[in-house]
Amino acid sequence: MKKNIAILCSGGDVSGMNPALKQFVEYSLQNNLTPYFVYDGYEGLIDNNIKKASYCDVAGIINRGGTKIGSARSKRFMQAKYRVIAKENLDKLQIIMLIVLGGDGSFKGLHTFYKEHKIRFCGIPSTIDNDISGTEYCLGVDTALNMIKFSIDSIRDTASSFKRAFIIETMGNKCGYLALVSHLTSGSELCLIPEIDYNLNDYEQKFRQEIQNGRRYFIAVVAEGIDQDSQEIAEWFEEKIGIESRVNVLGHLQRGGNPTVKDRLMAYKFITYAIDGLIQNRNESVICYTENGFNYKTIDTVVNTPYQLDSELIKFISS
Ligand code: F6P
Repeated sequence: MKKNIAILCSGGDVSGMNPALKQFVEYSLQNNLTPYFVYDGYEGLIDNNIKKASYCDVAGIINRGGTKIGSARSKRFMQAKYRVIAKENLDKLQIIMLIVLGGDGSFKGLHTFYKEHKIRFCGIPSTIDNDISGTEYCLGVDTALNMIKFSIDSIRDTASSFKRAFIIETMGNKCGYLALVSHLTSGSELCLIPEIDYNLNDYEQKFRQEIQNGRRYFIAVVAEGIDQDSQEIAEWFEEKIGIESRVNVLGHLQRGGNPTVKDRLMAYKFITYAIDGLIQNRNESVICYTENGFNYKTIDTVVNTPYQLDSELIKFISS
């Protein structure tokens, strides 16, 4: 008899989820499993919005951002009574394995669900914030970084035509990864992230001197999680450096766009490892990616270890 396996996307969507859904359906069928989609994250588990998936459902989606099956940040799933309903819905369809694509918050919910109901699951780190402990890479990050790169390159065109400072705010929640990597790869003059204390006064003399030496414009990449508002940074440039300033909050465009080759390939590999793991009875794990390749970590370790930004990357802007 075929065994039933389901997948859901939870929290902020990422480009890479659709390629993951495609591989999920194809690899499940190859392994004699019956694939199911849970629509709209944990909300769909509670509302029994769970449907059998076929090749037709995933045709033509590999190049699309977002997720065909929807995502949500479910408040109801935080309550035990709704997790009981979610388990009953899985049982009704005889779904014995669950794959969850999500970030830190989604994994915390999954951990609780597991402790209460002993479900067999595998988590795939999927967040543009890249802030999940134990993995160096989360699905969607490369596409987000490329969207930011494209935006900064475009802003540079107009910045270099005017004498202006541009404050470009990236997403990332409380993590500075997107801002830091974008700073290093776009050659910006200033990078402010929550992980590093800063004092704008330290830059004043240097920036004023640079203008005297002929600099026409500045690009500052700031993470949304820093204490200061981007508008305040712009005002600092106007008042202390004496240059007209503009703020660009990149916002949700960082979450969209067609998935890069790297994210399509990572989606393929994450799903393959997830299904292989479940078949081999690794039932409470998160697939992590490090320099040694893919490995399985228990969800307990992943959610209970605080995330730390790569110290080597931090060195580049501290020096
Ligand atoms: O977790 C991904 C993320 O895009 C964060 O970077 C950001 O802070 C948040 O989601 C935005 O959430 P929402 O889409 O609910 O506004």
